[in-house]
This record gives sequence, structure tokens and C-alpha cells, in this order.
Amino acid sequence: MSSKKILIGICGGIAAYKTLSLIRLFRKAGCEVKVVATRNALAFVTPLTIETLSNNKLYVDMFEHSTERTTEHISLAQWADSAVVAPASANVIGKLAAGIADDALTTTLLAFTKPVYIAPAMNENMYKHIAVQNNLNKLRQYHFHIIDPQTGMLACNIKGIGRMASPETIFETVIKDATTTSKLPTNKKALVTAGPTYEPVDAVRFIGNRSSGLMGFALAEALSAKGFEVNLITGPTSLTTVEKNINRIDVNTAEEMLQKCLLHFPQADIVFMAAAVADYTPAEKIERKIKKEKTPFSLLLKPTTDILKTIATQKKNNQIIVGFALETNDEIEHAKQKLHTKNLDFVVLNSLNDKGAGFETLTNKVTLIDKKNNIIAFPLKSKQDIAIDIIETVLNSVKL
Ligand code: CTP
Repeated sequence: MSSKKILIGICGGIAAYKTLSLIRLFRKAGCEVKVVATRNALAFVTPLTIETLSNNKLYVDMFEHSTERTTEHISLAQWADSAVVAPASANVIGKLAAGIADDALTTTLLAFTKPVYIAPAMNENMYKHIAVQNNLNKLRQYHFHIIDPQTGMLACNIKGIGRMASPETIFETVIKDATTTSKLPTNKKALVTAGPTYEPVDAVRFIGNRSSGLMGFALAEALSAKGFEVNLITGPTSLTTVEKNINRIDVNTAEEMLQKCLLHFPQADIVFMAAAVADYTPAEKIERKIKKEKTPFSLLLKPTTDILKTIATQKKNNQIIVGFALETNDEIEHAKQKLHTKNLDFVVLNSLNDKGAGFETLTNKVTLIDKKNNIIAFPLKSKQDIAIDIIETVLNSVKL
């Protein structure tokens, strides 16, 4: 760990006293630590303690060193390998979600391109407020890692959720990611499918699945952050990509997705098929708008090609294919069946019976099954964190 450079951000909150232990944990592990604090943080912890423990100068004001002609927030952002905001106040979470940079901490984080961990700490009502929850979800979409607070006795003398995760939990989360990041494969290519497909019924209507594309996009972003070159083949979605190494290919129909997959599959080292592909498409192509009648209307549908099954028949020994299965009953059995009949290396099971899991949600709860029928169930998490869990588990058990 000796080469890791950690930037710690401290906001104004009573949990700031615990951040002193966090600084110690990183220093003991051989990391270099620099600290940026908000003005309010200094009501709880002193600059002398922070500077003594971190063995570095504390950063608080934006322009205190303007005479040196340095842009400190940029050089700090470039210096660190990871940043941790602990405690993260509702105020700073809100500013980061809105892209506001009005002090040294928020400005540095806006210029930061590497992993940022946010450990919220606040009163339960504040934490549960829809504005704070929406801001946290925004941060998840912007690829911040949220280290959830715990339930316990809060500073306001009530028991509830909002207590900052322990320094040990925060330390272990950051260190685990930092050490796995150093084992990244290089020059490896990933293929990811995402979103629904839209099968046109006529000039204005389509048949499609209720998929937001979030799971596939989260996988593409996490793979790119790990150093993969990613081809992301996506059906219609309003999502945008952030990472540089993602080549986004937009398609509409299952047939278009199939063609793009066939084109990019041969170069892929690893494939994640998260798209909710339509299983049927209208048999007849109607270019005009179908006029409404008073009599019942029926539409003849024909099956689409199973893209996953098709590419899996062309799979070479060194290629890894991860499929998805969305089930409502006998979930494990159905998922295992898909794994074996589609010749997959892994299947990620989503059960619609799990609250907060599946399509059109920001969170997901999945179970990963491998060819030997080993089963790992992950708890409910944001789709960004689930993507990281899936990728880490798969990469740890295969050789690319
Ligand atoms: N899939 C695909 N092409 C299709 C249908 C599905 O590539 N035409 C892929 C999905 O991207 C997913 C996996 O197959 O990775 C399983 O999709 P799912 O909808 O759960 O299952 P189906 O195979 O379509 O079977 P069923 O709908 O009967 O459960």
C-alpha cells in the first residue's frame, strides 16, 4: 500500500472526530494522506491535530496560496489515487450533486477523475429526506461510491440511521478497491449490451421492455474504470456515459443489436449481456400509422433471435460470457437452465420478487451463478455497486 495517495475530505459534523482515526489507519497502512476540510469541519477538529496525524499541510481556503501561482485544487486532484469524504454532510452531498464548487473541498472533488468515496453522516430525518436521497442517487450515477451510514445512537440523542460508517469500514472499502485496481488487466476488451429493444409495430408505435439501461451502463462504466476498452451496445435510453473508454453503439431493434453483437463479439475478452431484448417482434412491417377501429385488433408476432445464445455458439475458449436472467418464479432453477442451455460462464439472476430489484429501479439485488453451480447472493445495493461486485467476482474466478 505504500504508494497509495489518499485525499480525505472532512465536512462539518460531529463524526469528524472519527476521521482522525481514519487518517491514522491509512497512515499505518503506509499511505500518504492529505486532508481538505470545510470551514465548518474546523469547529469539530483542529488543524494542528489533522496536520500532525496526516503529516501534511491542511487545505481549507481556495486562494490562500495564490501568491505561489499554483492551482492547488487541481494539483491535489492530480496527486491523489482516491478521495474519501468522511463525514459527508447533506450540504456537501448537495453541492457535489449540483456541480457546485465554492470551496477547496468541492472544487478539488469536481476536478477529481479517480474514485471518490462518500461516507454520509447526519440526523436520520435529514438522511431520509427525499432531497438528500435524490442527491445520493445522483452521486451514484456520477460514479461516486457511497459508503452507507449505520443505524445507532446519533449525536442528537435519538436512535436511527445516519451514523457514519466506522473508520475501519471506510478504510477497508477504500483499501480493498485500491488493491484490486492495481491488478487491472491491460488491453482487454469488453462487450456490454444494455437497455430495451424497441420493435416497431407501425410508424409511431413499438413493443418493448421496461428497462432503463442502468445495469448495463453501470457495468460498462465499471469495466472502463478498470481499464477495459468497452463496446456498449444499447437500446433506446436517456442515459449518458461518463468514462472515456466506452464506445457507445446505439440500436433500436433486437435484429440491430444482434448484428452489432456479431460484429464486436469476436474481439471481446469478456461479455456482459444485460439488455432486456424483446423476445418477439411484429411479423409484418407496417410503414404507415395503423388507424384505430372499433373492432378488436390482433398483431402477429414472430420470435426474435436469441442474441446471447447465438454469440455463445461462436465462443472461443478464452472468452467469458456473462448472461442475465430475469425471473419471477423458481428463479435459481430457471437461471441455471439459462446458464447451461445458452453455454454461459456465469448468469446474473434478478428476481422480480425482490423489492428494489429488476428494471426501472436505481438499486438491484442479484445472485451470481457459475458453471459449477456455485451461487453467490449479493445484498440490495445501487446498480453501480452491484456492477462492481459482479465484475470483481467474475474477474477473481477467471483468467483473462
Ligand atoms: N437475450 C438475448 N436475446 C434475446 C433474449 C434474451 O440476448 N432475444 C439475453 C438477455 O440479454 C439476457 C438473457 O438472454 O442476458 C436472458 O434473458 P431473459 O429475458 O431473462 O430470458 P429469455 O432467454 O428471453 O427467456 P424467458 O423470457 O423465457 O425467461
